[in-house]
Amino acid sequence: MASPESSAAGGVAVIGSGLIGRSWAMLFAAGGIPVRLYDVDPRQVTGALDNIRKEMTLLAQSGSLKGALSAEEQLSLIGGCSDIREAVEGAMHIQLFQVFSAGGLVQTIQFTVAKWNTVYKWVFVCPLLCSAGPWGMAECVPEDLELKQQLFAQLDGIMDDDVVLSSSSSCLLPSKLFAGLAHRKQCLVAHPVNPPYHVPLVELVPHPETAPATVDRTHALMRKIGQSPVRIMKEIDGFALNRLQYAVISEAWRLVEEGVVSPGDLDLVMSEGLGMRYAFIGPLETMHLNAEGMLSYCDRYSEGMKRVLKTFGPIPEFSGATAEKVHQAMCVKVPDDPAHLAARREWRDRCLMRLAKLKSQVQPQ
Ligand code: NAI
Repeated sequence: MASPESSAAGGVAVIGSGLIGRSWAMLFAAGGIPVRLYDVDPRQVTGALDNIRKEMTLLAQSGSLKGALSAEEQLSLIGGCSDIREAVEGAMHIQLFQVFSAGGLVQTIQFTVAKWNTVYKWVFVCPLLCSAGPWGMAECVPEDLELKQQLFAQLDGIMDDDVVLSSSSSCLLPSKLFAGLAHRKQCLVAHPVNPPYHVPLVELVPHPETAPATVDRTHALMRKIGQSPVRIMKEIDGFALNRLQYAVISEAWRLVEEGVVSPGDLDLVMSEGLGMRYAFIGPLETMHLNAEGMLSYCDRYSEGMKRVLKTFGPIPEFSGATAEKVHQAMCVKVPDDPAHLAARREWRDRCLMRLAKLKSQVQPQ
């Protein structure tokens, strides 16, 4: 099996060009890795390429573009594709493209590719290039077990023995996603966090038959593109991030339902309180720092924690009068029409970009 660095140079086929597929494409390009973006709906690919161009231009203008390459250089690394076999096999072609990109001929092709940013150009360009091994495939189709299983069965028939197949699934177990595949040792979940361009965490979740090298290679690739991978040692429903998130949402809901705190103030408890430190240190380090070390914290606070935890109620229904109440409160702050939601997301992303800059200054990697 190729080393992480050399195999990463082989390019990545991104399958599904919605929200997450676009983000992966931008992140891989930021790391200098060629991308082939495929979608069952070719209009989605065209839209994704347009969207990526706009995003990268804005990011470059605001000084927030990731990676060492210019926006144009990164854009030239991303190609659309309307045929899945071509996307997977075509990812192999891209490596040669990159290897010779210093040469005049390929520079010319690169320029042409950037100009022809459509799904059709690859049909012409790809046969000109020769084959080499891709790093792998990042699946980003909707969260539907059957749909993903069908897609993996198809990919299993055309992938070779040296690529990694990762799924972006938020909560489907890898043992279910990849069951029965011939290449299952090369498969894992690499779960990003929305918005992936601005939130670097990626949960790497193997199933019992995933080869350790598959996880290692993916970990190395994620580091290479500037993401922060964590290894989930064994699969569990919700992985780690959503289990923590759901625990917080669940208690937040109960506190509002029981009239302990208003929805607006509940959000402030996180954004002005816990969240301030969680961007820099996790809950375990918080314990360690909030006393004279972890054991001291357990000594001092474990009885109180257990007493409070025993009062936690059952799983909320997330419906009915409480859902109405929370909805109304949220709409006062952010009306739920597309324009207001989009504006607030843009504001959130700008905040995240500034936070990322601050984090890179105070805790250099
Ligand atoms: P999306 O709905 O924005 O995009 C899905 C894309 O897949 C669409 O462009 C669709 O045309 C395409 N597609 C459907 N069937 C296909 C097929 N057979 N072959 C190729 N393309 C196909 O979905 P989104 O939000 O990008 O989610 C993708 C995955 O990422 C899901 O598994 C989701 O759970 C996961 N995820 C989503 C997050 C989010 O916040 N949206 C966060 C982290 C993970």
